[in-house]
Amino acid sequence: MTTNSLMNTYGARAATLVRGAGCWLWDDNGKKYLDGLSGIAVCGLGHSHPDVTAAVAEQAGVLTHCSNFFDIPKQLELAEKLCAISGMSKVFFGNSGAEANEAAIKIARLYGHRRGIKLPTVLVMDNAFHGRTLATLSASGGRRVQAGFEPLVAGFVRAPYNDIDAINRIADNNANICAVLVEPIQGEGGVNLPADNYLEDLKALCERRKWLLMADEVQTGNGRTGKYFCYQHSSVLPDVVTTSKGLGNGVPIGACLATGLAADVMQPGNHGSTFGGNPLSCAAALAVITCIEQQQLSVRAAAVGERIMLGLQCALTSADNVVAIRGRGCMIGIQLDRPCKSLFLQALRNGLVINVTADSVIRLLPALIMSDDEADLLIDTLAPLIGAFKQD
Ligand SMILES: Cc1ncc(COP(=O)(O)O)c(C=O)c1O
Repeated sequence: MTTNSLMNTYGARAATLVRGAGCWLWDDNGKKYLDGLSGIAVCGLGHSHPDVTAAVAEQAGVLTHCSNFFDIPKQLELAEKLCAISGMSKVFFGNSGAEANEAAIKIARLYGHRRGIKLPTVLVMDNAFHGRTLATLSASGGRRVQAGFEPLVAGFVRAPYNDIDAINRIADNNANICAVLVEPIQGEGGVNLPADNYLEDLKALCERRKWLLMADEVQTGNGRTGKYFCYQHSSVLPDVVTTSKGLGNGVPIGACLATGLAADVMQPGNHGSTFGGNPLSCAAALAVITCIEQQQLSVRAAAVGERIMLGLQCALTSADNVVAIRGRGCMIGIQLDRPCKSLFLQALRNGLVINVTADSVIRLLPALIMSDDEADLLIDTLAPLIGAFKQD
């Protein structure tokens, strides 16, 4: 299926997908694919999860939308649930990861102004990815998403990821910084994991300098890394947490959560969203959270992710094009020593959906519910392709 009626933002599409169930997808020719990507970390519960389908169908028959002029029972319930899970105290709902981060950036600016900072500045990281809106692409760390969109939004300074000393040096020369926005694991940037104590050190630095610590958990959240939120592997409670992707299992929803001073800076008129927190998306998210909690899917994500990582490590011990295999839970990167974008199509031809990010990192974001057999099939399909890979 093709059309000329879509803007060319995604280039040529590789297949036409018409159906999904669990970890499997089908194209319009009836070909079946094992999904190692989950719609880029979205369908953590797998495709067409019956509980989410039922919750969406039921809510669609009751009330889909009514605007934020009114209390929405499912929105209130979801807000309380997310606060209980995260340790945050307040939530703003939007529809995407970028919107969740926009809310966080606006919170940082309001907070900065409250502190008397005239040009509040958010410190962001090299190779970060926070979205495609103007503010979030300005916060993102690759020229790839910024090129052509200048003038960029002002009010960001950049530091290398995983380098506390560099942040301290930048801070000593910039009194406008009022917050740090950071991914606990960089996703689009290449599945980059910081040192074990990175968030603790960052939090201590933020406390010392009265900055907000804002964790972008758009990709890492909702059970993917083995805890509901990735920062929960540490002892740190951020001031602001953003999430989206896996929260609705495919139904668009984003959330910006905050605690302490950050939770109270937004006042009536400061921010809003027509669709944010609508009954339909909140019903979906509540069903997702219930499944993650009741079926302990974070624990499953840790186990199946480890199985995939160990399996790949074992299968690729003698592959001299592999630089590193790294990850946490169901967020795995295989770094090659050369660009490898064409592996996406090769894998697809072999009935497997993967992704290549940062040019040379094969990224796997399987559903948290992936079975051991499916994980083994993923390894058995992917490892020979990597082993035989020469160049793009
Ligand atoms: C860490 C992170 N933040 C923000 C975003 C943007 O989310 P969305 O595409 O829903 O706007 C993404 C998307 O990949 C992401 O990985």
